[in-house]
Amino acid sequence: MSTYSQEIDKRRTFAIISHPDAGKTTLTEKLLLFGGAIHVAGAVKSNKIRKTATSDWMEIERQRGISVATSVMGFQYKDYKINILDTPGHEDFAEDTFRTLTAVDSVIIVVDSAKGVEKQTRRLMEVCRMRHTPVIVFVNKLDREGRDAFELLDEIEEELQLSVRPMTWPIGMGERFKGVYDLFASELNLFKIDKQHVAEDIKKIESIDSKVLDESVGAVLAERLRADVELVDGVYPDFDRERYLRGELAPVFFGSALNNFGIRELLDCFVRIAPSPQPLHAQEREVHPHEEPFTGFVFKIHANMDPNHRSCIAFVKVCSGRFERNKYYRHIRLDKQFRFSSPTAFMAQKKEIVDDAYAGDIVGLPDTGNFKIGDTLTEGELLHFKGLPSFSPELFQYIENADPMKQKQLVKGVEQLMGEGVAQLFVNQFNGRRIIGTVGQLQFEVIKYRLLHEYGAECRWEPIHLYKACWIESDDKAVLDNFKRRKAQYMAKDIEGRDVFLADSGYVLQMAQQDFPEIKFHFTSEF
Ligand code: G4P
Repeated sequence: MSTYSQEIDKRRTFAIISHPDAGKTTLTEKLLLFGGAIHVAGAVKSNKIRKTATSDWMEIERQRGISVATSVMGFQYKDYKINILDTPGHEDFAEDTFRTLTAVDSVIIVVDSAKGVEKQTRRLMEVCRMRHTPVIVFVNKLDREGRDAFELLDEIEEELQLSVRPMTWPIGMGERFKGVYDLFASELNLFKIDKQHVAEDIKKIESIDSKVLDESVGAVLAERLRADVELVDGVYPDFDRERYLRGELAPVFFGSALNNFGIRELLDCFVRIAPSPQPLHAQEREVHPHEEPFTGFVFKIHANMDPNHRSCIAFVKVCSGRFERNKYYRHIRLDKQFRFSSPTAFMAQKKEIVDDAYAGDIVGLPDTGNFKIGDTLTEGELLHFKGLPSFSPELFQYIENADPMKQKQLVKGVEQLMGEGVAQLFVNQFNGRRIIGTVGQLQFEVIKYRLLHEYGAECRWEPIHLYKACWIESDDKAVLDNFKRRKAQYMAKDIEGRDVFLADSGYVLQMAQQDFPEIKFHFTSEF
């Protein structure tokens, strides 16, 4: 195997997802600590958006600004190159997270042991399921009183629609938390509080019947562990890597991220079982990571909020081959050649200019408006990567120009912001009015502010009552035309000219689905 292929096989590109506050930031930091990328805890300026800031989106954007550095964190662990892609916790930015999930090969889901599976986790899991993304679950905060482990596993199975297989098992919890037992290595990892460093007390025991267990955790907990392990082996399927890779079976770990506990087991297993870069689908064909010519796509655009420097960073996932600095690549949508003199890669929290990057890596390309979400770069081949669906937005408003002298600026600003994936634009085919759809209220404020400060344009929002926008299609053109005629007032086009039905209530949508069985109603833009 060439060194080039070896480089690619070493890559593990993944995201950590959770409901806010379950411990994503803390876990990220501890993984970096293990990888030696940072030396003391507390060093990661998180991408986390504080709850108190929900009404203050400027503060949120400021905090998001910090996150350029933590958008991708690469580090070396053993012989692996690990890339963690950060995702914003705030639900108004859920769409950002969905897109980030298109650039990873696997995910780790963090669940709070007291709260179990929460709303945001459930939503994100739906995206993982659509893409068959392999999932590892980390049950966090075992140092606090939480729920019974079996009960939690049942909930994870049910709520996330996954089979689970515990890989470690907790010994006690809260005040009585003694550590975790590694079910496969027969190792005891005894709990010691150390928030700052990697400190562990690991004892290899011959079997679960060993006296060392009783001596270490006391007779009562030792007996309980024996009973639990027997039940675990009886109830849960064996770990089957193929099922994990297909996204059907999730290995589960227990620990306490804050106390640096149970993380080593997680990380060691992760590098061993998690997939290296996987083939990706382009419209034209499947692209394999080991193919030599470089290909990649933009999955995220990070705008600079400073109006004096209106540059962005386009985050490109390298899908195949090797990306090189100063080499010309074809920007498919614009059909133009571009080369990049200062591509950046992200090691720990440092952003540095790199000469090359391999499939599985993320490079940041400074951009002044040439890129849109979903753009493909290649060495010349005509390819369009798929897999960046837009989700049916939930909130809608008409956007109107409030300054007639600045119509052009408004149009340009709206177009670019939509290209960055801030929100979605629909044009009503009946009255020509433009509608912006978002997943969160904040985006409307973000758009208004950015139009003014970055484009000198002023917009005004006007209410529109809509329940959902869905993409429609049918093999029967006559049926489709009939539908469009009958629903003329509610028909719109998205930015790519596709037909969108704007239903003003759940009832209307349901009736339309019933009356037109030949029409498919889609709730994501990719079908
Ligand atoms: P998030 O990124 O998923 O939103 O969660 P984050 O890591 O910021 O963790 C949320 C809160 O939970 C933090 O407390 C963090 O210290 C705490 N936490 C994380 N892991 C554990 C754990 O294993 N045990 C316990 N007991 N707590 C844990 P905070 O008070 O909100 O913030 P901070 O001031 O401590 O940073």
